[in-house]
Amino acid sequence: MALSARSILDVSDLNSDEVFFLLKETKKLKEQAKPHGVDFSQNLSKSVALMFFEPSTRTRTSFEMAAFRLGLRVLNFSVNESSVKKGETVFDTAKNIEALKPDAMVVRHGGSGIPYKISQLIKIPVINAGDGFHAHPTQALLDAYTIWERFNDFKNLEILIIGDIAHSRVARSNIKCLKMLGAKITICAPPTLIPPFAQAWGVKISHNLDEVIAQANVVMSLRMQLERQSSYQVPSLKEYSSLFGITFERLKAIRKDAIILHPGPVNRGVEFISAVFRDERSKVMEQVSNGALMRSVLLSEVMGVPR
Ligand code: CP
Repeated sequence: MALSARSILDVSDLNSDEVFFLLKETKKLKEQAKPHGVDFSQNLSKSVALMFFEPSTRTRTSFEMAAFRLGLRVLNFSVNESSVKKGETVFDTAKNIEALKPDAMVVRHGGSGIPYKISQLIKIPVINAGDGFHAHPTQALLDAYTIWERFNDFKNLEILIIGDIAHSRVARSNIKCLKMLGAKITICAPPTLIPPFAQAWGVKISHNLDEVIAQANVVMSLRMQLERQSSYQVPSLKEYSSLFGITFERLKAIRKDAIILHPGPVNRGVEFISAVFRDERSKVMEQVSNGALMRSVLLSEVMGVPR
């Protein structure tokens, strides 16, 4: 597969053959059943810089675990202890980290497009770990893997994405990825949380969760991203949760053979009642485990190291 030395900035950097290759390789890695990876000494001559300018639990730790699994050295950059706090720009920061000679850079930033600009400034591959509202390609890949693991195909699958579509890089990358793989997508949210240009995405749009929840094979709730909303775009979280949250009644309405996903972090009581975590259809923790495996495969392909 020709991913070697390529930057992965969004799902559109991959074609469907490349996505299916990554899914199949992730499955093989999972079947090896080596939770912490392989020979730690094999690739210690290569290193990856993890550049998180915005908070993260799942993405940062799973890239770190993925790097451990491959025997890579990890250079962890923490924005709060960096010279960004003294006014250094993100681009000068990236150039300085590149000067330390890591072999790849993983970048998360609150500004849409920042990983793109960094990839134009430096010579090593950049993997986008989430930028602003824009893209989160590795989340889309791990979600696609979690869906494929359960259904083995995407054709004719009905995927329902619920919630804060307007501010969600996860929704944007998932829609691109799942449409490319052949799934049918419905987005469901209050009108204030669906951007006007969503009409052009080739998805169904609903504002009534109870009309669409029972048909879905995959129910994906998104976090309400209050930190990205310029003003409250729903009258109250209580009202949002009563209209768009997974309640006991809605849990009963979801198909018995469906799966329930959430990229995390979950606002308990807003997107989900806590019982969703205990429901056997919930794959929320499986998504996290799958994320480390998928990122191992991606890093190994981009960096040209064995797995
Ligand atoms: N899903 C996701 O990106 O979670 P984090 O923000 O914790 O990395």
